[in-house]
Amino acid sequence: MDKPLGIGICGLGTVGQAVVRLLREEGDILARRAPRALKLAAFGLRRDKPGFDPGAVPVYRDMLAVARDPNVDVVVELMGGTDDAKALVELALTEGKAVVTANKALLSEHGDALFALATQQGVPLAYEASVAGGIPIIKALREGLAGNRIEWVAGIINGTSNFILTEMAGAGRPFADVLAEAQRLGYAEADPTFDVEGIDAAHKLSLLASLAFGVPIASAKVFSEGLSRVTPDDFRYAEAFGYRIKPLALARRRNAGLELRVHPALVPEKTLFAQVQGVQNAVMIGGHAVGPTLYVGAGAGGDATASAVVADLMDLARGTQHAMPPLAYRKEAQGGEAALPSTAFHSPAYLRIVAEDTPGVLAQVATILSSEGINIEALMQKAQDSTQEGETTCVPIVLLTRAADEAAIDRAITALEALPAVRGAVLRLRVEPFAAS
Ligand code: HSE
Repeated sequence: MDKPLGIGICGLGTVGQAVVRLLREEGDILARRAPRALKLAAFGLRRDKPGFDPGAVPVYRDMLAVARDPNVDVVVELMGGTDDAKALVELALTEGKAVVTANKALLSEHGDALFALATQQGVPLAYEASVAGGIPIIKALREGLAGNRIEWVAGIINGTSNFILTEMAGAGRPFADVLAEAQRLGYAEADPTFDVEGIDAAHKLSLLASLAFGVPIASAKVFSEGLSRVTPDDFRYAEAFGYRIKPLALARRRNAGLELRVHPALVPEKTLFAQVQGVQNAVMIGGHAVGPTLYVGAGAGGDATASAVVADLMDLARGTQHAMPPLAYRKEAQGGEAALPSTAFHSPAYLRIVAEDTPGVLAQVATILSSEGINIEALMQKAQDSTQEGETTCVPIVLLTRAADEAAIDRAITALEALPAVRGAVLRLRVEPFAAS
């Protein structure tokens, strides 16, 4: 048996404690699966955690001291945040130590420089846990699909958002109530606006896109839109059209560049993707040789994320973790490498318009859409959901368009909102039919 791999864990929140538990409880099995045992060598813990027992493992209050400890071969960064985490990872790599991180915000912001440093130092920087929790999606892209040109990646990659939309759709629970539960269960980010505004998913998508298309992480600028405008009525209307509303992250290569976007989207209810409920994540990848593939599993939570962290540690113990995955794939992209602006996106749309219930309003709506060359796929006017504004009855007009350029849909929405008969803002949700992918 080779010398054990000394592990220093920095950050002992939900994920860090789950990693420690997994290593302690499954140590025998893990030892049989690799030539080197995994040995807890140090903890970085700014202050005591009630209920966490470090045992005989040394505890440092200064995280950087973990990276300097000669018994530590690999630094596991689970602190979150970007500034202190960056300093820790840089020091660890500079010290010639491997790093395992679950920190998608850190890699999305500083990944190019950190991977370059890892390559220069000849040490691995592993990040399986940073995307889609327990689903081994980095491994799938980097290894299992290595023979493919990747055409597109579509994911539900924020468990909190999926949990919220699932509960709102099924149980009709209020948004704030479901979010509080996601926080209590340890799914949500320290700042939950990262979850509900699509920022966390955008970080993860930038990492997937970099790996999938061979572009620098910095170039993978992701458009993101949050969940806050979706109402309980929209779930009902979407269902009437045969769709569910899911938190979609999409990276698609087009001739002009990359479509990189995170937003709530209507997806056909019959697709497997639409069945992915609660905190579960799903990632679909389309490769030119393999066709579409789908990966589903727990995308957040301590144990699921610990599973991915320990998988990286096992790769290190086996000597199979390589220094710099994204850079190795560079310059493979065909077509443009730059992220396209949202006006260049092309997809069908769901529009909800609240308008006066008077003759001719529907004709005005249809005229505006037709003047932008937007074809209507389906339309409903929900009289039972009408509201009263003084003497005036207002009614939601809900429609699906065929695929159109987003610039045309933007112009149509501006014109619709300018109609005297239309009240308030028009809600636009994008539709992902998948069949066209
Ligand atoms: N807040 C994240 C989520 C945790 O809900 O998916 C996992 O990255």
